[in-house]
Amino acid sequence: MSDESRQEGERLRGSYNAAAGSVHDSSLITHHLSLPALTVALPKGRMQDEALTLLKRAGVEVSSGELASRRLAIEDASGRYRFVLVKPADVPVYVEHGIADCGVVGRDVLLESEADVLQPLDLQISRCRIVVAALTNASQDDHGMMHVATKYPRIAATHFGARGVPVEIIELSGSVELAPMLGLADCIVDLVETGRTLADNGLSIVETITESTGRLVVNRASYQLKAEAVAELISALGAALESGTRKA
Ligand code: PRP
Repeated sequence: MSDESRQEGERLRGSYNAAAGSVHDSSLITHHLSLPALTVALPKGRMQDEALTLLKRAGVEVSSGELASRRLAIEDASGRYRFVLVKPADVPVYVEHGIADCGVVGRDVLLESEADVLQPLDLQISRCRIVVAALTNASQDDHGMMHVATKYPRIAATHFGARGVPVEIIELSGSVELAPMLGLADCIVDLVETGRTLADNGLSIVETITESTGRLVVNRASYQLKAEAVAELISALGAALESGTRKA
């Protein structure tokens, strides 16, 4: 290694350590990292509001000020819980790695993920279906490879694989309903909640693969090491679910 690159390496290490030191010195971060009993990963987007409503019924409330901020790590009013707001697909990642002790995430995401997490509770929120859909009145061509566009490549491959249907999976990140209309795919595998997106894009359900609801997931180590706090959250959410069922 040349002297120049060694010096550059030392300079970078120095800046990194200085930055890390300033993080560790920050009383704010220390406060946020050490106080709450549990860190819970919440999915940003459509499930977030339902999850927060259920948590509120379970006695865990996040102030509107915290929610209105752009902070991605916020605490509940009691300071017992820290919530990290992440993309739905990242919830199992944070929980499996123990960065979050618990998380709220859809069964669809869990089926697609390979994360090794515990699933103690069906929260019965954000109920939807994972379906195969195609253009309404599309002619059924049984010959050759079928092209399937989806955000769920594993679920789609398992579904068609189990039926012995040869498919090419085309992985997309969103707006999957466009694919058949634009000729990218013969059909899609996607979530349906109200059915509006399918209908508005000229698609009909061919078959339902499975149902999905929001689940509470727990990191394996936290389940043992923070048993009391985890049990308290599960029991509060369970009671909130039961009182919701009784009212319905
Ligand atoms: C989901 C799903 C459908 C839509 C279904 O997408 O992938 O596109 O919601 O909802 P509906 O049946 O109520 O119309 P999302 O809103 O998460 O956006 P995305 O397509 O960008 O992933």
